[in-house]
Amino acid sequence: MKLLIFAGSTRAQSFNRRLAKVAADLASQAGAEVTLLELSSLNIPLYNADLEAIGTPADVIRLKEILLDHPGWIICSPEYNGSYTALLKNTLDWASSPVKGDPRWGQGSEPFAGKVVGLLAASPGALGGLRSLQHLAPLLSNLQCWVAPQQFALGQAGSAFDADGQLTNDTQRTRVGSVVNQVLWAAARLMP
Ligand SMILES: Cc1cc2nc3c(=O)[nH]c(=O)nc-3n(C[C@H](O)[C@H](O)[C@H](O)COP(=O)(O)O)c2cc1C
Repeated sequence: MKLLIFAGSTRAQSFNRRLAKVAADLASQAGAEVTLLELSSLNIPLYNADLEAIGTPADVIRLKEILLDHPGWIICSPEYNGSYTALLKNTLDWASSPVKGDPRWGQGSEPFAGKVVGLLAASPGALGGLRSLQHLAPLLSNLQCWVAPQQFALGQAGSAFDADGQLTNDTQRTRVGSVVNQVLWAAARLMP
C-alpha cells in the first residue's frame, strides 16, 4: 500500500513535521510504501486565478500526480487561530483547481476522489490542534475523500518528542499507529 504523509508546516523545528516522521516510521513498520512529502520541496505560489490563467505551475501538476498516485494519505495539521494553516489551504486549493485544456486534470477532484485520509495534529497547546482537524475534515469530504474516523491531536507537543524525534509516551505513539493502521486498512479495501 502506497501511503503519502505530509505536514502543513515548513518550519524547521515543526512539531507536525516530527509527527509526520513518527507516522512514516510506523507505516513503514506496518509494511506500507511511504512517501514523506515536504511541502517546502514544492515551488507553489499563493493561489491567484490570474496567475493560473497564464499556466498552472509545474509543481502543482507534480503535486497532483503525487496525490493521485497514493491511495492513502496522512496529513499532520498545525493549528492557527483554531483552524488549519494557510500553507495547507493553499496547497489543497491549487491541487483541487482544474487545469484548463488538460483532459487529465479537468476535474478538480481528480487527485482527491476516493482517497483515504487520516488526520493528525500537533500543537504546544492542550487541545493539540484538534480544532484544525474539525475544519480540515469537511474540506476533504467535499473533495470526495474518505476521512478516517480515528484522529489524533498531540497536545503539549513541545515536550512530547525526545532528541531523536521519537514520541516518549507509548500511549501517544499507539494513537498515531491506530490512525495509520486504519488508513492502511481502509485504503486497501477502497482502492479501485
Ligand atoms: C498565527 C498563529 C496562530 C496560532 N493559533 C493557534 C491555535 O489556535 N491553537 C493552537 O493550539 N496553537 C496555535 N498556534 C501555535 C501553533 O500551534 C504553533 O506555532 C505550532 O508550533 C505550529 O505547528 P508546527 O510546529 O508544526 O510549525 C498559533 C500560531 C500562530 C503563528
